[in-house]
Parts: sequence; C-alpha cells; structure tokens
Amino acid sequence: MCGIVAYVGNKEAYSLILKGLKRLEYRGYDSSGVALLENGELNIYKKKGKVSELEAGLAGKELHATIGIGHTRWATHGEPNDVNAHPHFSNNRKLAVVHNGIIENYAAIKKNLISKGHTFQSETDTEVLIHFIEDIQAETGDSLESAVKLALKEVVGAYAIVVMSVDQPGQLIAARKGSPLVIGIGEEEYFFASDATPIIAYTKNVVYLDDYEVAVVRDGKLSIQNLDNTETIPYIQKLEMELEAIEKGGYDHFMIKEIFEQPRSIADSMRGRLRSSDSHLQLGGLSNHLDKLAQAERIVIVACGTSWHAGLVAEYLFEELARINVEVEYASEFRYRNPVIKENDIVIAISQSGETADTLAAIELAKSKGATIFGVCNVVGSSIARATHAGAYTHAGPEIGVASTKAFTAQVTVLTLIALATAKQKGTISEEVFRQLLTELENIPDKVEKVFENASKIKEIAFIFTYARNFIYLGRGLNFPVALEGALKLKEISYIHAEGYPAAEMKHGPIALIDEDMPVVFLATKDSSYEKIVSNIQEVKARKGRVIAIVTEGDTLIPGMVDFVIEVPETHEILTPLVSVIPLQLLSYYIAVMRGRNVDQPRNLAKSVTVE
Ligand code: G6P
Repeated sequence: MCGIVAYVGNKEAYSLILKGLKRLEYRGYDSSGVALLENGELNIYKKKGKVSELEAGLAGKELHATIGIGHTRWATHGEPNDVNAHPHFSNNRKLAVVHNGIIENYAAIKKNLISKGHTFQSETDTEVLIHFIEDIQAETGDSLESAVKLALKEVVGAYAIVVMSVDQPGQLIAARKGSPLVIGIGEEEYFFASDATPIIAYTKNVVYLDDYEVAVVRDGKLSIQNLDNTETIPYIQKLEMELEAIEKGGYDHFMIKEIFEQPRSIADSMRGRLRSSDSHLQLGGLSNHLDKLAQAERIVIVACGTSWHAGLVAEYLFEELARINVEVEYASEFRYRNPVIKENDIVIAISQSGETADTLAAIELAKSKGATIFGVCNVVGSSIARATHAGAYTHAGPEIGVASTKAFTAQVTVLTLIALATAKQKGTISEEVFRQLLTELENIPDKVEKVFENASKIKEIAFIFTYARNFIYLGRGLNFPVALEGALKLKEISYIHAEGYPAAEMKHGPIALIDEDMPVVFLATKDSSYEKIVSNIQEVKARKGRVIAIVTEGDTLIPGMVDFVIEVPETHEILTPLVSVIPLQLLSYYIAVMRGRNVDQPRNLAKSVTVE
C-alpha cells in the first residue's frame, strides 16, 4: 500500500525513482508521481494508473535532476485520479511532499488553513500536511526542518514522509511514525524508500528510521533527530537480500516463481533450527522464552488475511502438541473489542510484511495490558518485528506477488517448530513422536517438490473451471484452514467468488448452493477425518456437485467417487497443510492466468496494508 522512493546524489533522479517505483508496485497502488528539481524549478508529474502510464506520458521529455521524490498511491482520501496522486505542492509551490499513512486530524487543520487563504487542489490529507508545514515555516521564520518537526507534533495519525524544497536544492527531509521508511546510504548519495527493494541495486547499507525520527540529508550528510531535536547516531545495517530474490528470474509472474520456490523457502525457514538425527530443535529468538510459552494458560494469535489462516493452523498445532488453549483473532476485531488479556497470556502476532496496521495496533493493545508478545514475521526489521518482545523470522525471502504463497508455508513451518519446542519443554510430547516429526519436517521440501509433478494436470483442471462463477472449498481439522486459504487465493487473483467451509458445516447452509454447476474442492487427505470427509463428498455428489479432491497418493477409494483428483504425498497429519495447500495455490494461479487477470497485482488489493 503506497510506496515512497526519493533520491539525492549525482545520478539522474527521474529514471532511478521510476525504477524504484516499479519495484514497489507489488505493494498495491492506483496512481503514481514524481517531483523533480530541474534547473532551479520544482516540477511535479503525476498520473492515475500504473507507473508505466506515468512513464509513457513523460516519454521524450528531457527530465534532468539529481534530487527528487516519487510515490505510488493507494487511494484513501479522495478517488484515484491525477490530482489526488502524490507528490503534492505547498501553497506557494516551493515545497513538495510524498506521504504514506493517514493524517486523522487533517480536516481541522485544513479549515484553519483555508481561513488563512490557502487553496487546495486535491482532496487529500497529504496536501494539507505540506500546506501546514509551509504555514508553520512562514509564522515562525524557522528552518524547514523545524517546521516539519513542529507540524508532525500536531498531527494525529500515521505517516512516512519525504519533503523537498526549491530553496534547498541538496536537501531531503524524511520522517516516520507507524509507516516504514528505509534510508540507503551510497557513495555521496542517499535513497529513501518504503522498503529495501528499490535500494538494493545501489547499496546494501541501510538505516531503518524509527517512529518519531526525522532524517535530514543536507550537503551530502545524513543526520537523524527526534521531534525534540535530540540527535541519534544512525545505525547502519547490511541488507541480506539479493537482487535476484526480487526479480522474476524467467517466470511469467512473481506468484508462480514464489510457489515453485517453496521447497527452498520451507527449508530456509528451518535452516539451522532443527536436526532430526539428534532431536535438535532451537529457535534462537525464542529459546529464552520457552518456559513462558510452556507455562502459558492461553495463547492468543492475532493476524490478518493469509497470516490469520496460518494462525488457525497453529491453533490445532499448539492444542494438539502442547495442550495449550489457543484463540485466533482477526487483529482488526481484537483491537476494537475490550479483550480479556491477562499477564500470563502469550500473544503471537503473525505477519508477512510486519507492517499491517491492524496487527500492529493489536500488539500495542495487548502490550498495554501486560501480555508478552511474540512475532512471526517475514520482513526483517519490520515494525511488527520491532514491536514484539521476541520472535522468530520465517526467512521465506521477499514475497512480491500480492497473493501470499511461500510466506504462508514458511509461517506454518515456523509455527510448527514453535509448537514442537513448547511441547518438548512442557513434556506433552514423547521423544519418539518428537523425533518422528522433526524427521518428517526435513522431508517436507521434497514432498512439496513432488506436488509440482502434478502441475500440468492442475492446469488442465484449471482450464475446465476457468469460467466458473463460484467455488466451494471444504476441509476438516488441519485442512479446514487450508480450505479457507484455497478459497482466499482464488478470490484474490481470479475474482471468482469462493467460500471455504469446515466440511461438516456444509449441511448448515452451503449445501443449498450445490448443483451441477458448482465446483467443490475437497481436502480429502488420509488423516483422522478421512471417513467423515468421504461421507461429505458423497453428500455433494448426490446433489451433482462437481468435485475436485486433493487426496493422498495411492488413494483408491475417492478417485472412483469424484470428477477430478490431485494427489499429494503422504505425510504426518500434523504437517498436512504444508503439502495440501500447494495444489490450491497452483489451481488459483492457473485459473487467474487463463482469465487474463493481473496475477501479481490484483485489483484493489495491497501487499502491505498500512491503514486500518
Ligand atoms: C494483505 C495481503 C495478504 C496478507 C494480509 C496480511 O491483505 O494482500 O496477502 O495476508 O495483508 O498481511 P501480513 O503482511 O500482515 O501477513
């Protein structure tokens, strides 16, 4: 959601910023723009639609600048159009700003500025912010940096901003609260971006700005202060990300690349953490907290979207293996209730991006009530990773496709490791089962690889159902969250309506929808609910539903009952989601491609949802 790229140095800022904005496209947006200082003039170019449309509109224009700010906007205040797109000018057009987040008290500030004669072009809160900064500067006669700080002390909400001024040609001022901003440090050049992907091609040295910090690049030097002018020494970190991880590498889409990456990403999420040969399992970030986990009366999991589905899998895992009561909450619901949280509750926040606004707010709420918070995040150094007391990274590598695939399997893997470590600590698992599960976890990457052998068969099935209008996904036990995830994948990228349900619940409503036009995907692997799911399949077939069943290799019963089967290798029941979700990801992908959808950037969706 919304992306910032800014540059000051010796290179051509326009092409560099444009390239950076393209790297951020995966976050989701509906307009884009740049502000450049060209021969002493501050110019803004912006356009509704994709970055390529902005680029096409500017083709042939000589745009020479060594400083500039760029933005991809995901509309909140005001529809996506050229005027509401960022950057925005201040009233005297001497300042320009790009902004991620929401200024909640913008209406009151705007009213006051209008009474002072300011006129506004757009409906955005962002334009109000830059007018406000100009107004403070005019009233106080202070530097731009002070005016930015004073303005930010007055605003309520979340922001990451970069401001530039026609009067200070080598200066960029950036600040953040609740919305990420990374600063890349090159040779006599600086980059600002919402995440590291636009920066990595130029430098691996980065500084992650903290909340309430203001970074200023002036005369080729970076300084960081808080809003009260206290200086902090920039903490320079080395990016571990490689450029090829954020490129398509010969695949048509990031999503399919990421699906096929899963044998490696699952292995990466376990790397150095487990060894079955001597029953070794250690999660560095959590090893000092296992007692606390083992003694927890209750674990509350907060997450959104696909991460919430991983949380539902974890509920089964913790209850089964560690005998701990688990509640899985949508972060957005949790934060606005008055939830009962006790000091000995453990809260686990799951998030791929580590920036989801609702999840972050749920963490703050639980923290304020004294709970201990652990994080399971993919993006290293993200806001959620930093807001939690401890945690375990999923190490899936950058996930660029909006529909989450490898991040989900990495989350489930890491949550399995945490549940196993807790069970071991608590003594609720036998040595034998513990070792058996570690061994089987080590086999999972090969088993996922094996599922890919069915890719062309899944493609054929996808072809048959390309124009279906609805889909139902059914599963039981650990396969129920997988059914939800399968339905979500299909909705997100193909825009086909799909519902996931616990298979037995079907009788209480969805069965009314079943006729010869309704495709029903059954998660029917050989596990403790196998007989029950077979009965559910019969119920659907009796009503002429068209059944696609995900079955365990070698199943001879179900293939005789259903229209299509997709086999997955046998594994321990506890680990089933890691293999059974793979065909569902592929099915959604192929259907979406056949429908001509923009798979990596589906309409209206954002990869990182930084507004509530
Ligand atoms: C967005 C993404 C989903 C993701 C959800 C939660 O909706 O499109 O793929 O599951 O946010 O994001 P998180 O980064 O917290 O896992």
